[in-house]
Amino acid sequence: MKITIVGSGYVGLVTGACFSEVGINVQCVDVNEAKIENLKKGIVPIYEPGLDKMIVRNLEKGRLQFTTSLSEALKDSEIVFISVGTPPDEDGSADLKYVLQVAKDCGKYMNDYTLVVTKSTVPVGTSIKVKNAIQDELQKRNVKIPFDVASNPEFLKEGAAIDDFLKPDRIIVGAESARAEALLRSLYKSFTLNGHPILFMDILSAEMTKYAANAMLATKISFMNDMANLCEIVGADVNEVRKGIGSDGRIGNKFIYPGIGYGGSCFPKDVQALIRTAQENNYNLQVLKAVEAVNQNQKTVLYHKIVNYFNGNLQGKTIAIWGLSFKPQTDDMREAPSLIIVNKLVEAGAKVKVYDPVAISEAKHHFGDTITYYNDQYEALIEADCLAILTEWPEFKIPNFNIVNKLLNTAAIFDGRNIYDTYEMKKQGFDYFCIGVNTLTHMKNNLLRSVS
Ligand code: UDX
Repeated sequence: MKITIVGSGYVGLVTGACFSEVGINVQCVDVNEAKIENLKKGIVPIYEPGLDKMIVRNLEKGRLQFTTSLSEALKDSEIVFISVGTPPDEDGSADLKYVLQVAKDCGKYMNDYTLVVTKSTVPVGTSIKVKNAIQDELQKRNVKIPFDVASNPEFLKEGAAIDDFLKPDRIIVGAESARAEALLRSLYKSFTLNGHPILFMDILSAEMTKYAANAMLATKISFMNDMANLCEIVGADVNEVRKGIGSDGRIGNKFIYPGIGYGGSCFPKDVQALIRTAQENNYNLQVLKAVEAVNQNQKTVLYHKIVNYFNGNLQGKTIAIWGLSFKPQTDDMREAPSLIIVNKLVEAGAKVKVYDPVAISEAKHHFGDTITYYNDQYEALIEADCLAILTEWPEFKIPNFNIVNKLLNTAAIFDGRNIYDTYEMKKQGFDYFCIGVNTLTHMKNNLLRSVS
């Protein structure tokens, strides 16, 4: 089987690499010539564990090819995936110009039956627009070539995308003909053999499923962050509450970790796009609006803790930061809480020293020379007045606390990801602040508990 994947960004590359890994002939297309030239040499423009090796392996086997020519790629591909970007418009809705351009090009160049599958996250109803765009081009050419459209949203987590693709929780396909369904069932055969389900449905429901899934996950996080803030006020420990509610199977223990707000290329964009879709359909998505508002607020919570600690004045203070990417295992800083926190610290007059295992070069695009960058997590601490942890990279979890304590001017840690134990921090002599635990009240209550 031969397939074409248009758009060699994050989703397109992971999809192309994984399909070629199971023996399918894949042509990846992109308009960016420099990117394609690099990919032909095995130079991968994004950081995703395991991806570069998989691309090189399949390039060498000849099952994976890169080209800038969609017309060439289409010549012998029965299936075309659209995985180009859908950047948010000023009003928050997804900009479909790239998706529809690919649809047009498919109509322009296809010569035989083609199944055009939308993989990019697109608003509900986009596949109809894709279909119309293809149809219009065929009409212009005055030819009658059979084709189908389908929706096949992705559920890839950055940092775990290869695993998510190879062992999916489920594959969602919205299709409108038996032929399209059969083609996609056979394409995904290798991925469904071990009981990973493939769910077929109508196209609108498939498109909606992607948004509903991300909206639900974002809701869990914002709900937990809201609870965390209340826990702090009433003196409860959100870590205990999380375990307490997570053991109820109906709630589940995943995606209920409080923190400094969700970021990344999906949740913020998809939540806004779904609110927008609802508005366009005269429906008020109240819950999701609150999810968004809570998330905006949560990105400033750690900053306020730092300001309070220094009595409202950060002038002349030096703050060390560990972690800048929106989550571990990626250098992606899109919508990362660090963007807001670091900028607020700088605006307040603080000197900021940062360390991240992989996101430093990305960070330089955002912060330029307003902050200083370090290649070693301990070096960033020298003469800093406190440490703030913004990403839960594994290497931050068990640092040498003696060194941390010695290097910092003030032994104060602001942990935006709750990676340390309150008692351990107290024992190590730190002033410790995290999310959803008023460390002072909490210690007092628990001392009473251990005495009684
Ligand atoms: C997400 C979805 O998980 C994936 O299915 C979809 O296809 C794309 O969007 P991703 O953006 O890679 O994937 O990140 P994810 O691991 O889901 O984390 C998103 C954000 O939520 C991160 O900022 C993370 O720190 C935050 N998060 C996650 C929490 O704050 N608490 C949690 O319990 C889980």
